[in-house]
Amino acid sequence: MKIPFNKPFTIGAELENIAAAVRTGHLSGDGPFSQRCHRWLEKHLGAGRALLTHSCTAALEMAAILCELKPGDEVIMPSFTFVSTANAFVLRGAVPVFVDIRGDTFNLDERLISAAITSRTKAIAPVHYAGVACEMDAIMNLARERSLLVVEDAAQGILAEHKGRKLGAIGHLGCLSFHETKNVISGEGGALLVNDERFVARAEIIREKGTNRAQFFRGEVDKYSWVDIGSSYLPSELVGAFLWAQLERAEEINARRLRLCTVYREELQVLEREGLLRLPQRDPPGVKSNGHMFHVMLGDLAARTALIGHLKSRGFHSVFHYVPLHSSPAGRKYSRAAGAMTVTDDVSSRLLRLPLYFGLEESDVRRIAAAIREHFVR
Ligand SMILES: Cc1ncc(COP(=O)(O)O)c(C=O)c1O
Repeated sequence: MKIPFNKPFTIGAELENIAAAVRTGHLSGDGPFSQRCHRWLEKHLGAGRALLTHSCTAALEMAAILCELKPGDEVIMPSFTFVSTANAFVLRGAVPVFVDIRGDTFNLDERLISAAITSRTKAIAPVHYAGVACEMDAIMNLARERSLLVVEDAAQGILAEHKGRKLGAIGHLGCLSFHETKNVISGEGGALLVNDERFVARAEIIREKGTNRAQFFRGEVDKYSWVDIGSSYLPSELVGAFLWAQLERAEEINARRLRLCTVYREELQVLEREGLLRLPQRDPPGVKSNGHMFHVMLGDLAARTALIGHLKSRGFHSVFHYVPLHSSPAGRKYSRAAGAMTVTDDVSSRLLRLPLYFGLEESDVRRIAAAIREHFVR
């Protein structure tokens, strides 16, 4: 493959930071680099408290514990998402209840949430697909009216905004990913954003194997012990050291990705005008996306398969995305759909993601777009 779909990158100080962490001798979690990452996330995202985790999956699992779900409690979420959004809650015995997505943003359709709420509903887990914000005003208002918690899956949403607020910092809890496919990376990695003061102390305990070790290190208790359930959710300082190099330059990373998206759009809009494919919608007022993804919608599954094959023959790797959870084997066993999943099924069969990563050149984007145009005029 000449151009892969994704290529992990370093931006500058990653290896230097790792060497510095090794020299200080603090390799377990929450060393100086990790603490810098925490403060950065709190300051730049406006999160109440930020805690690095091994992954967004780990952050979602922590969030699910914090929601204090009982077996049979329900959490409303899209089916068009990564498995971890659902799995984290299923691990607590809860039931994911899927609601269809919007045809424009591919996010949870906020107009369908009310009808999916039952006496067992405890939380809503909106997923900001492609770093494009869900309708957070409607979701937060509904949550307030019905006394539900909101756990944002902002895996793809670093620094993206909804009405001036950063994704992940709007709900009671927010979860970010630094997996190597995301904008800001540390190989594997994530963060839990605790935006509601009520959950801060318990989040620290859950992350530290159910102990009050964080309080002990701050000198607030004279010994630490097992006080609650928990697990080991904090990453090593080596991860924090790598991540710090990227967080410092996160705006620059997003700006580069947004520029590549603009080039894709310019190069492909002729095909949209001719009705041959659909480009992602432009950010509506109040929404600021972060260039996480560039996707196109083809006419049908056959058209998508043909384009994937054509791009592959030219050395370009394009990929489809989520296989809906509601019809997956585990989804059928552990969750249920509230209403039809028409848009979910449709989008899932027609959406195609094009290569996008920090090291991709504008000239590469132009070559990929030219190959797509060539495919349609043959
Ligand atoms: C919406 C969503 N949630 C959660 C995750 C899981 O992230 P991680 O790999 O950091 O656990 C992903 C990963 O791609 C994702 O796209």
